[in-house]
Amino acid sequence: MFRLYTPGRILFGHGTFEKALGDCDLIVVSPSIKTKILQRMKKEVEIIEFKRSSKTGEPLERDVHNLKDSLEETKPKVVAAVGGGSVIDATKLALVLMYNRNIDLKNMYIKGVPNTKRKTSLIGVETTAGTGTGISAAAVVIDENSVKHGLVGEALICDRAIYDPSLVISMSRETAAYSGMDALTHAIEAYTSTIENMPADTMALKAVELAGKNIVKAVNGDEKSREMMHYANMMAAIGFANSRLGICHALSHKIGGRFNIPHGKINAMLLPHIISFNSTATNRYNDIARVLGLKTPQDVVEWVKKINKETGIPSLATLGEKFYEMIPQIARETENDGLMKTNPRKAKAEEIEKFLKESFEKDA
Ligand SMILES: [Fe+2]
Repeated sequence: MFRLYTPGRILFGHGTFEKALGDCDLIVVSPSIKTKILQRMKKEVEIIEFKRSSKTGEPLERDVHNLKDSLEETKPKVVAAVGGGSVIDATKLALVLMYNRNIDLKNMYIKGVPNTKRKTSLIGVETTAGTGTGISAAAVVIDENSVKHGLVGEALICDRAIYDPSLVISMSRETAAYSGMDALTHAIEAYTSTIENMPADTMALKAVELAGKNIVKAVNGDEKSREMMHYANMMAAIGFANSRLGICHALSHKIGGRFNIPHGKINAMLLPHIISFNSTATNRYNDIARVLGLKTPQDVVEWVKKINKETGIPSLATLGEKFYEMIPQIARETENDGLMKTNPRKAKAEEIEKFLKESFEKDA
């Protein structure tokens, strides 16, 4: 038996942004794209400018609290969160806080996300082609110790998700690279996870194929490839929302916050090493090799390294000695990460430590 969790409606295509936002009475948007978004709105709506305080792309706890306060003042019936992962994740979490006054984020890290029905309808509009948060039941937030927490729960699913390719055409090269590699990592981790979910896995494998054909051209600005990467992003998200993720995201959450590295970038830096590590535990990388026009899992490792070079992603060794010294602690924290449950290769802290040290040394 399997279940397929998705938003109530997913709309994809040019012009879906205008069509889907007809009944929205409030938009949460980042200041950098506010003007562009407002120009496309066909009616006047209230705006909350979401200002995140972190450099890495994810919201801090205080950003979520500030947004909750603003939402409480406005009390919207239909809110659209328009932007990259931080805007949508913060809006999801702020709404959970708004409808669960007796619980805070710290409780949720331990007890999970309460499944209270919200009275505000949420539309997720992704303007980068990679986070998948418009689809997923997940949200990431950073605590005061720079530790990222990936929360999962049905209350974090949008009611509608909009994938309008015209919104991702003007992404910077860097955003296209980081978000695109995040989408590829979602697809690979979902397909190789221990949860077998045929529809989700089919979506994930197709997303690998689409990303393989399009990521370099998309980073270089080709419009059709950016549209295809947005498809890959959406399909990878259906994959990981149902089949979950693995050790790459478990590690990137630990490393990214501490070293101020954008989420997709650190995933990409880890990904070739993760494929080497995991490929002894599952034969699913053979399918991934096939859809990429390659022969073996090792070919996939070399292919990801090549894509990283072409899209400007540095090696793991560029994290330097401070990272190397912190590896034992990162390994200990990762052993107990929930995402290790769905990683195909089980590993204790010592094994993760050895793997990370070897990966770092190999890349030096
Ligand atoms: Fe991700």
